[in-house]
Amino acid sequence: MPLISENSIQRVQDSCDIVDVVESYGVKLKRSGSSFLAVCPFHNEKTPSFNVNPQLQIFKCFGCGVGGGVIKFVELMERCEFPEAVEKLASKAGITLDYEGGNSEFNSERTRVKKDRKQALFWACRQAFEYFRAALADATEGRVARDYLLSRGFKEETISAWGLGWAPDIWDGLLKGYLNKVVQLSGEHKVDQAREIGLEAGIFRKNEDTGRVYDAFRGRVVFPIFDLQQQPIGFGARVLVEKPESGGKYLNTSETPLFMKRSLLFGLNFAAKEIGLTKTAYVVEGYTDTIMCHQYGIRNVVATLGTSLTVEHIRLLKRYIHSDGKVVALFDNDNAGKKATRRAIELFMEEDVNLWVLSSLEVKDAGEFLPKFGAEKFRGFLTGARESFAFVVEEELGKTDYSRDAGGKAAAIERVMELVNRCPNAIRRNIMRSKVAEVAGIDVELLPVPAERKGKYGDTSGYRLAGGGGRRGSGKPRNAEVGSAPLIINARKQARAKAEKRLLQYMLAEKDWCLRICDEYPPDEWYEETEHRCAVVIRDAWFAAADNEVRVEHLIEQVSDERVKSLLLEFVDFDNIASGIASVYNEDNLNAAELNDLLLHIRVDEMKERRTEINAEYARAELSGNVELADKLLLEKLELEKQIRGLAGGGAGE
Ligand code: UTP
Ligand code: MN
Repeated sequence: MPLISENSIQRVQDSCDIVDVVESYGVKLKRSGSSFLAVCPFHNEKTPSFNVNPQLQIFKCFGCGVGGGVIKFVELMERCEFPEAVEKLASKAGITLDYEGGNSEFNSERTRVKKDRKQALFWACRQAFEYFRAALADATEGRVARDYLLSRGFKEETISAWGLGWAPDIWDGLLKGYLNKVVQLSGEHKVDQAREIGLEAGIFRKNEDTGRVYDAFRGRVVFPIFDLQQQPIGFGARVLVEKPESGGKYLNTSETPLFMKRSLLFGLNFAAKEIGLTKTAYVVEGYTDTIMCHQYGIRNVVATLGTSLTVEHIRLLKRYIHSDGKVVALFDNDNAGKKATRRAIELFMEEDVNLWVLSSLEVKDAGEFLPKFGAEKFRGFLTGARESFAFVVEEELGKTDYSRDAGGKAAAIERVMELVNRCPNAIRRNIMRSKVAEVAGIDVELLPVPAERKGKYGDTSGYRLAGGGGRRGSGKPRNAEVGSAPLIINARKQARAKAEKRLLQYMLAEKDWCLRICDEYPPDEWYEETEHRCAVVIRDAWFAAADNEVRVEHLIEQVSDERVKSLLLEFVDFDNIASGIASVYNEDNLNAAELNDLLLHIRVDEMKERRTEINAEYARAELSGNVELADKLLLEKLELEKQIRGLAGGGAGE
């Protein structure tokens, strides 16, 4: 992916106020002195310790320690990486991003047009959303729908929190209001374009024969679907009474540029936090199931949008639950539900995400169960979830007596192993194999192994190495090391990153320390891109400081580089920030002995790196018969090793 230009990142930061952005994610901020406080969206707490400082344009939670600038906030909220966060913010603020390496005139024009179009689609959905909501709230128009929702067990608060609505049973109620508004805001000449936008957003339909445009949803209760920033992007609409002539029970927005069912989950905007906290996500089938679960206090619940679960859904959920969390599937108690569960088990296995399954409810679904039997009984039911592989083993091998049916048993083992061998994680596969062998009473060696794995399964070690660059693509070793194992690069990279971070603290604390570090380990040689830039900022600050004082909180205010800002933020002592008093740099635990140690380690490390290089060069020289060079390299290597031994106190080995 091309890199977003620093210029663009800057523009995004300048135009996105952190207070607005945090609030747009549904975090309720309260003013407190010169900053704002809220209950942290990233950890569980009762008393607010999540602080947003509008002057510094930063946030920090002194409960769980997360902090950073506006982009970092979006990264955490959306569980995405830096570039994606920048793009999300840009798209909301209507900013066209430039990419490094330059984008052609045509490309940037095209992105701009696309962005504008997206904004227009958002606007159209918003109009529809308001129309449906107002109709439901209307005493006469919305009465039947309201009574229906209440009779289904939805509470008033729930109806309002989920923005439920009603689409009146007329052909052009929304269309008229929508076009009137367009005329008011932009004039008559925009009407045709606006109609097109409405069609593209899925709120209108067009009769291809007559060309007539009309409301897509009529005479239905409307369940809006929001993105993570609580913007409506699509709708599910249910008939009040199922009749053959009324079409399907639900009508849903079809695919639009905003509404991509393959990767959207209903209710994720309300469930994200709880899923992150509990590392558990329940996936149900229906809108009503989701809402009902939330109403009854089970908030880590989402649903697919009338489609089956996709790989994209699984990957999305994985961002929230991490590798040690789990997804629990609760599909309807019918044949379709059972089939969906089986398919899900395979897909989750392929994605190496833990799936748990539930036995069937005694009624059709959660939406029906909860109002009938209550939350306590439902929670009891949820505790019966079982790890899906154990479930499959039990179903296939535990339930049937195969003592007289060797063929049947062999076939069952085949089926289970077919599932096991879908798993790309060799360790997990091995554990499962042992389990199958144990349950089936079979030698593990006899069980089938995966067919030749290629492509995404190419790696059979089960560990996916974060090859090359760091998570932002910018953290790649600045001194790229060629030819040694990526695993070693990674370990070394991590150690170096840690050391560089610590060095920054020394650089901040005292000018002498800063000078010494710049002398022995010049910022230009640093590994980590952000740490490197931060070091340059601190060095320059000391040179520019008239009063021989550099304060981290001033630096944060001055730097525009979001990544540097986030990093500096980690060195701030936030004890005072809640009261609005300027924060103070925390100098605890800094001492010359540790600094010596850090610098020494880095020196040794660099020598070892050079040694690795020499090894590779030596091998090449030998191969090509360049004896002279080979000898020279050998000498250099011996000398290096002597130095390493000397510095590292005798331990020459790795
Ligand atoms: P259900 O039929 O189980 O609906 O379909 P539900 O959500 O439980 O609704 P109630 O409780 O009967 O009112 C599950 C999901 O499948 C999709 C919808 O997303 C629905 O929530 N679906 C169902 C459709 O898209 N179209 C349909 O005609 C039916
Ligand atoms: Mn259902």
